Amino acid sequence: MPNEPFYITTPIYYVNDVPHLGTAYCTIAADVQARYQRMRGRRVLFLTGTDENAGKVSGAAADQGKGCQEWCDELAQRFMDVWRDCHVSYDDFIRTTQERHTRVVAKFVERLYASGDIYLGSYSGWYCPFDETFFPESELNEGKCPNAECRREVQWVEEPAYFFRLSAYADRLLEYIEQHPEFLQPESRKNEVVSFIKSGLQDTCITRRLEWGIPLPASIPQSEGLVVYVWFDALINYLSAVGFESERAEERTKFDSFWPADVHLVGKDIYVRFHCTLWPAMLMAAGVSVPKRIFGHGFWNIESEKMSKSRGNMIHPVVLADELAAAAGCSRDTAVDAIRYHLLREVTFGLDGDFQRAALEHRFNSDLANDLGNLLNRTLTMVNRYCGGKAPAGEPGKLLALTQEKLPVLSQSLDRLDYSRALTDLWELVSAANRYIEEQKPWELKKAGDQQAVDATMRETLCAVRAITLALTPFMPTATQLLWTQLGLAGTPAEAGWDSITDWAALPVGKPVGKPEPVFPRLDSKRRTPAPPPESEPRVSASDPESEPRASASDPESEPRASASVPPPKERPTVPEITYDEFKQVELRTGVVKTAEKIEGADKLLRLIVDLGTEERQIVAGIAQQFAPQTLIGRQLVVVANLAPAKIRGVESRGMILAAGDEVPLALISPSADVPPGSTVR
Ligand code: MSP
Repeated sequence: MPNEPFYITTPIYYVNDVPHLGTAYCTIAADVQARYQRMRGRRVLFLTGTDENAGKVSGAAADQGKGCQEWCDELAQRFMDVWRDCHVSYDDFIRTTQERHTRVVAKFVERLYASGDIYLGSYSGWYCPFDETFFPESELNEGKCPNAECRREVQWVEEPAYFFRLSAYADRLLEYIEQHPEFLQPESRKNEVVSFIKSGLQDTCITRRLEWGIPLPASIPQSEGLVVYVWFDALINYLSAVGFESERAEERTKFDSFWPADVHLVGKDIYVRFHCTLWPAMLMAAGVSVPKRIFGHGFWNIESEKMSKSRGNMIHPVVLADELAAAAGCSRDTAVDAIRYHLLREVTFGLDGDFQRAALEHRFNSDLANDLGNLLNRTLTMVNRYCGGKAPAGEPGKLLALTQEKLPVLSQSLDRLDYSRALTDLWELVSAANRYIEEQKPWELKKAGDQQAVDATMRETLCAVRAITLALTPFMPTATQLLWTQLGLAGTPAEAGWDSITDWAALPVGKPVGKPEPVFPRLDSKRRTPAPPPESEPRVSASDPESEPRASASDPESEPRASASVPPPKERPTVPEITYDEFKQVELRTGVVKTAEKIEGADKLLRLIVDLGTEERQIVAGIAQQFAPQTLIGRQLVVVANLAPAKIRGVESRGMILAAGDEVPLALISPSADVPPGSTVR
């Protein structure tokens, strides 16, 4: 098993948009798996990338007045930047405009043409330009795109085209699915695939007459003017990245060790039709083995609504992290890790979820600041106070036994991508460690002069915190590094490896521990959105501050907790009352952001062009540090339309946008549903 290759992929994302919570979710989930497998000693290849040959990509470039390639270069960099900020440890980033990919696509197409799996025909049918997919009339939903996430108008398209003989693979696909129970996951989605295939597969049109895309190889007759259908090209990325059919020997070795992929992780929208039907059939036709596992995850709604640009409720992970960091007073890195934890803990991986800021904040305080933060804090405080600040000696106790019992279950959950289950199990260990301190009462043992018992208790607790830190590392790679360093441990938890979780001897006796510093400062209640309704409140665990026994001044429970670092609430300045007539003089209208850019030499300012229905306005907004310009385009906002024009840093501003936040703009105010630009806000 050690050193065995492990190949995991995310979808490659269209560069018509910047990363958002949905794309980040899939990428983070893949990252957790990649980090976990690396800790287990596997030789991991974690692939992500961008899908650049799509019509919607060239459309987005044209909208921005940019050349396609220039646009793709910019956006691919944006993806890489966001993934870096989200602690995504990909090994390779593939772009479908790269030569290493276009070359493989040409070879793949030629191979299928030679085998007779691709043939010339002519196509007429209903085409959804957004999904880049043809749909039979019977599948349309009231004449519109049947994809529940899309539902846009479809177009009637007629053209000579090449087809892939998908219909010939239905039986082989069904047989393969039946014989390989691990192939399609989660189990609940497998049936959907089976019924889709059983309902009858039609041959797939795999060319388009477009300017932008990978040209059909010239060796194929009548290829002029045709490009490969973007989905047919995109799926092949999983092969191009590992050197399929490469002339270079080292690339061929790479292919032999990493193919078939261990897991393709994709969203439910691209699971059935593309990844579980078209892709395996393409591979079967090419005589290449199919991936070992394809996992379809669910979708996130935002506060019970579909996430969409027009609703103005898109969540961008780094912006969200900055908002959380500002509210908690922690670093962006810690906030990113808290978001990673929340996304994977909140919802069973595979099911849909509803993202609520209040739930994120609640979890931050309850799981991270209270349960985990306090555990570390108390442990280090007591080791400093009772054991001379050095890891004491002692026989392993019941927390090791519990860790030994939990580890196989935890590993199994992670192997199955059952992240919420893994984290729930891990939290039992966190609670058990907190309970252990309360039961052992090291402060009383100290008073009684039983140093040996104090040492044994503190060693057991330190080792448990070390174990928890290791097990959490795939989820929260930077926050766990902070915990690790505070524990006085050298190197990184990732280097220590997964098996080290139960290795109590790995904590050297006499090693100095650090001073406790709150890694997750409690969120200031004034800035928080209200906590979730009572039914979702977690049970009061023994480590909740309210349930603790009152501590005497010399007891360590009264030591500074993470919450102690939160500054006292500030007074709200009093604002004079105004009459209704005075308020009525403010003209509030909705507007849609057309362009947004930074103003040179002004860190906080953005220059926006906002469509107010009847006119476009230039507005200067002090939101540059919280909102990246690209994330604002297309967003609906509320504008004070009759504000007297003013020059800000030499740039004229005609109006003001509304945002919420006490010291900095944390959230922009948008209508809750689509309304025409310029609508009155009252
Ligand atoms: N380019 C194709 C994939 C080709 S793979 C060979 C594509 N790209 S995409 O940019 O649209 O990104 C799709 C991914 O984002 C999907 O896996 C999809 O599930 C995910 N998500 C988009 N919105 C989402 C949510 N609201 N929630 C969770 N994931 C979502 O499709």
